[in-house]
Amino acid sequence: MRYYPVFLDLVDQPCVVLGEGKFAREKAASLREAGALVRVIPSREYKRGDLAGARLVVDASEDTDINRRSWQEAEEAGILINVVDRPAQCRFIAPAIVRRDPLLIAISTSGESPYLASALRARIERWLGREWGPFVALVGNVRRQLRARGVPIPEQTRVFRRIVNSEVRSLLRRGRADDAAHLAVAIGQAGAIGPGRVALVGAGPGDPDLLTFKARELLADAEYVLHDALIAPETLALCGPDARIEDVGKRAGLDNPSQEAITARLIELARAGYAVVRLKGGDPFVFGRGGEELADLVDAGIEVVVVPGVTAALAAPAAAGIPVTLRGVASSLAITTAQGDRSLDRLRELALAADTLVVLMPRSNLAEVAAAVAEAVGGSRPAAVISNATLPNQQSVTGPLEGIARMADQAAIGTPATLVVGDVVAAAPTLAVLPNSTVDGGFG
Ligand SMILES: C[S@@+](CC[C@H](N)C(=O)[O-])C[C@H]1O[C@@H](n2cnc3c(N)ncnc32)[C@H](O)[C@@H]1O
Repeated sequence: MRYYPVFLDLVDQPCVVLGEGKFAREKAASLREAGALVRVIPSREYKRGDLAGARLVVDASEDTDINRRSWQEAEEAGILINVVDRPAQCRFIAPAIVRRDPLLIAISTSGESPYLASALRARIERWLGREWGPFVALVGNVRRQLRARGVPIPEQTRVFRRIVNSEVRSLLRRGRADDAAHLAVAIGQAGAIGPGRVALVGAGPGDPDLLTFKARELLADAEYVLHDALIAPETLALCGPDARIEDVGKRAGLDNPSQEAITARLIELARAGYAVVRLKGGDPFVFGRGGEELADLVDAGIEVVVVPGVTAALAAPAAAGIPVTLRGVASSLAITTAQGDRSLDRLRELALAADTLVVLMPRSNLAEVAAAVAEAVGGSRPAAVISNATLPNQQSVTGPLEGIARMADQAAIGTPATLVVGDVVAAAPTLAVLPNSTVDGGFG
């Protein structure tokens, strides 16, 4: 069944509800809420001719004989009818509704599953808070003002995007309706060319479900998204349909944009008034060079927002079931990288100083890294290497530090990978559902 969706204007229109039960009362109430003139006819009183002149009829009598007769009368008279729970006797069906007046969202599964329709309604209600009602009304006001001034449509669209990306909704959420209205009007008056903004956003370790709510919203509304190499296509799919996506990922050995070129591009786009998202794997400030980009943008006078992400340094062990500060086993944690000057000396020092050591970017020189850490804490210290954590192709190996590089090679552990060293690895409870390719070397 294919339905044609409409919203009906029933103000002052005669409508009939048949029946006297709960459904009949509910249908009558919602029709009255829409301004209809509702006549309720109890089941036993219905007779042919009662529907004459009605715009719309709901038969909630739950009586098959009445159902048959009302359907026949309505069909002959060309009146829209819905016989409750009888899809074959419905000229229209009633969707599940999310009400944020003047915003109205109708959800229909074409009768396949009223349960799913109401489950979706509950989700959308949580997603779109109460502030969406007044927000839509404010945007409506601005739209009327822009139209009255003859502002061209593409420019109007940019104003609306700026309002969506502004503080207007959060002001409404906090009950500051007057401030929200002033801000919306001010953006409307400033026009499309206002200052742009860069959001430095953490994309998490890979699984798009681990993005923050704020990251999702910014991606949906961004005009430009400049992203790293490690961002999953499923995450980029959350960008709005008109977003321009630029891959500025730095992959070893390939001719990719320099850090200066990336920052210059961000500044250029923000100065041109665009809403820009700079999307980085994990958390932008954990070995992600987010700090340098922030400093350069602030120096250039660009407005920046920072949205933290779930760092791989914590997500990779967590996804492999390793609690990095397991009570009674570890009460300190160090996070470092295997790359850069003095990295091996630093690894030795940190391995001694912290109960659990997490090493990012260890894969290319894993044997060397493991040997350096083993020099400090001994080759029998438990270790794990987890690659592609939180993604469908997650892999991990666990075993004593002295054998971990060989095990990782044997299991063909790829990148990105994270090394975890410490007693928590051996003490970790075995996951009920282990990722397919976990290899456990034992610690005996
Ligand atoms: C340049 S660092 C960026 C870290 C990122 N800013 C963060 O907070 O997760 C890249 C390293 O993060 C780790 N990494 C990123 N994603 C990972 C994943 N899905 N599984 C395991 N390790 C990951 C690897 O060690 C990789 O070499």
